[in-house]
Amino acid sequence: MNRILSGIQPTGNLHLGNYLGAIHNWVALQKSYEAFFCIVDLHALTTHPSPEEIRAWTRETAANYIAAGIDPSHSHIFVQSMVPAHTELSWIFSCFAPLGWLNRMTQFKEKAGKHRDQANLGLYAYPVLMAADILVYKATHVPVGEDQKQHLELTRDIAGAFNHRYKRDFFKLPEPLILGPATRVMSLKEGTVKMSKSDPSDYSRIHLMDDADTIALKIRKAKTDPELLAGTPEAMKNRPEALNLLNIYGALSNTSLEKACPHFEGKSFSVLKAELTDLLVATLIPLQERKKDLMKDPLYLDTILKKGAEKANTLAQHTLSEVKDMIGLLKN
Ligand code: TYM
Repeated sequence: MNRILSGIQPTGNLHLGNYLGAIHNWVALQKSYEAFFCIVDLHALTTHPSPEEIRAWTRETAANYIAAGIDPSHSHIFVQSMVPAHTELSWIFSCFAPLGWLNRMTQFKEKAGKHRDQANLGLYAYPVLMAADILVYKATHVPVGEDQKQHLELTRDIAGAFNHRYKRDFFKLPEPLILGPATRVMSLKEGTVKMSKSDPSDYSRIHLMDDADTIALKIRKAKTDPELLAGTPEAMKNRPEALNLLNIYGALSNTSLEKACPHFEGKSFSVLKAELTDLLVATLIPLQERKKDLMKDPLYLDTILKKGAEKANTLAQHTLSEVKDMIGLLKN
């Protein structure tokens, strides 16, 4: 059976981009893959959360996964730092990744901004740890949003370099699964900028925990253009805000952009916004209820995470042991 692995950083309030680009697709995929869903707390350390924050957000992220429909009796939900093989393999990979490859990573450039010298080493090495997260399970497929595509290419390059060095087809190259119409959800305030947790404006994104009134208000205030909606994506090529709202609509109603467009042909944005608000409320409010219930039972969440880590450790240790043999590292 093919195996998927993916992860999200526990950095507080998840947003609609995380949901539609990742979790929503995981829920559908878990039925046909062996599935590993990680909470990448070590990656989140690059943003310096307090101990209280990261502890709470790690459990909250697990609750979000389950509330959104990840089935813990079938899929493995676990915390990255509970599986030490990730960081061990990451070090080994860091000896295979030339600086030139890392210097090309656009996400590092964006996050480090103008003050590159002050960015931490963890932020720079972030994609190498991500490669270890994936390859330590020999995952065949990785479902992510479009912004992770370059990191997955690096993962494949690292796997290829390792295979080449040891003249063995040891790591299969994992395939990205970038699925659905909302692989890159854009800011509600600017259709050419990605929806992200680092945008200073709360109105740029929908949080999974926003209440119905807040969702309605944010969608009402979302940027539009003066035209009526057209019947095809091609006819709206240069209308990023319209396309973004339609993509979100398409993803939430499990339809394509091509099918969503004719539904709104000749209508005003207010019609689309009203239907979109209803869809968001119908999706997110029940998710929030389920999450609230889960958060009342931290023992249950911890049991799921412990079980997930046990399974993950077994597989990851096996890969790491093989890698150590190939490299020539002594084992105890
Ligand atoms: P993170 O926490 O930044 O994002 C988690 C997931 O959400 C997706 N995403 C989006 N998708 C569509 N539109 C958006 N605006 C949007 N914003 C975020 C991301 O593509 C991602 O799928 N490096 C990863 C975490 C990670 C990982 C891994 C993923 C660590 N190890 C191994 C897969 C496999 C990240 O940036 O997460």
